[in-house]
Amino acid sequence: MQSLLFTPMDLRGVRIRNRIVVAPMLTYSAKNGYTQDLHTLHYGKLAYGGAGLILVESTKADPRGASTPTDLGIWKDEFIPGLAKIASTIKSYGATAGIQLGHSGRKARRSVPWEGRAPLASHPGLDHGEEWELVAPSEIAHSNEFAAPRALSIADIEDLIEGYGAAVERVKKAGFDVLEIHAAHGYLIHQFLSPASNQRTDKYGGSLENRMRFGLDIMDRVRQSWPDDKPLFVRISAVDEAGWTVEDSAGFARVLKAHGVDVVDCSSGGMSGISIVTSGNPVSYGYQVPYAEGVRKLANVKTMAVGLIIHGDQAEEILQSGKADLVAIGREMLHNPNWPMDAAAKLGIDDPFSMVPSLYSFYLQKRAQTDFGGRPSTWQAGIEAE
Ligand SMILES: Cc1cc2nc3c(=O)[nH]c(=O)nc-3n(C[C@H](O)[C@H](O)[C@H](O)COP(=O)(O)O)c2cc1C
Repeated sequence: MQSLLFTPMDLRGVRIRNRIVVAPMLTYSAKNGYTQDLHTLHYGKLAYGGAGLILVESTKADPRGASTPTDLGIWKDEFIPGLAKIASTIKSYGATAGIQLGHSGRKARRSVPWEGRAPLASHPGLDHGEEWELVAPSEIAHSNEFAAPRALSIADIEDLIEGYGAAVERVKKAGFDVLEIHAAHGYLIHQFLSPASNQRTDKYGGSLENRMRFGLDIMDRVRQSWPDDKPLFVRISAVDEAGWTVEDSAGFARVLKAHGVDVVDCSSGGMSGISIVTSGNPVSYGYQVPYAEGVRKLANVKTMAVGLIIHGDQAEEILQSGKADLVAIGREMLHNPNWPMDAAAKLGIDDPFSMVPSLYSFYLQKRAQTDFGGRPSTWQAGIEAE
C-alpha cells in the first residue's frame, strides 16, 4: 500500500513534501512582539525532523489581540527580519514555511500557561506602553474572571481588516508560503461568529450571514494581498460550547472555499470556560478527527485533522480512510521533533532516515541496526572515537 502520509501534496503552486503538519503552537517567547533565538531554534529543529509544513504560532496583526505579552507580532515592518529568519531556516531543511495570524479579542491579555493563563487585570499595551485595551464584537466578557471588552465600532472593524491586509504583505516579505487564519478557540473571528459573544445589531451581528461577515471580509482582504499561487488555511472550532455544530461548520466551510480558502483546519471549543469534553465525549486518540471527516464530506473541502494524533499508523489511517487531507501534530512534535522520521521508519517507508540531515541520518540509521542486547562494539554502533 502506497503511504499517503509520505506522499507530497500540491496546493495551488506550493508542493508540501509530505502530509505531516506541525500544528501552530505559541512558544510564549517573544519580547514585545519580536522573535528571539529560541524561535529559530525551535522551528528549525521541527523542520529538520522531516515535517512537511510548519505552521508558525498565532502571530498578531494588532497588539491588542495578543494572548499574552509574549506573543509574536506582525503589526509593523520591524518584525519582518526576525520572521524572515524563521521562514528561511524552515525552508533550508526542505519543509514548507507557514504562519498563523490570530487575534484573541476578549480573550487577550493573559499570563502564560505556566503562570496560570489567567486574565491580567491590566498591563501596558505591547509596543506603545499605554493601557492594553480588550476589544470584541460586543461588551460581553468571556467569563466572570475576564474584564468586559469594548465593542468595536465599524471604523475599528475596517481598521482591523486593513491590518490583516498589511500583515499579509509582511508575511509575503518574510518569505512564508502558507498562511493560516485563526478563526477558532473563541478568539476574535469566532467571537463574531457566535451569538453567545456577538449581540451586534449592525451588519456584523444578528443573522448567520452577518455574523460570518467579519471573517469573510478578512478572507477577502487577505486574498487580495496573498498570491493566487499560495494556499490559504483557516482554523475553525468545528463544534463549540455555544451550540455550533459540524453541520454549521460545513456551511461555513463552503462559504470559506468560495472566498479563496483551500484547507479547513478542524479544531474545537474555546467559546467558554466550560469544556466540551464530557464523559460521553472524552479526549482520546484523534478526538477531533470526526470533525475533519464531517466537514470534508458535507462541504467537499480539504480538511486538516488535529488533536491527539500520536502514532504514524494512526495518521496514515486518517488519510487512507478519507477523514482528512492533512494531519497536524502538536504536542507529540514537542516530545519528538523527529516524529516524521520515526513514523516513516515504523511505517516501513524506504530510507526513512533520509529526511533528516546527514549527522542524524548516518548515526540514527546505525542506531536502528544496532543490537544493543548484544553489547555492540563502538564500530557497530557507528560511534568512532573522534
Ligand atoms: C503550547 C501550545 C500552544 C498552542 N498554540 C496554538 C496557537 O498558536 N494557535 C492555535 O490555533 N492552536 C494552538 N494550540 C493548539 C494546537 O495547535 C493543537 O490544536 C492542540 O495542541 C491539539 O493537538 P495535539 O494533541 O497534537 O497537541 C497550542 C497548543 C499548545 C500545546
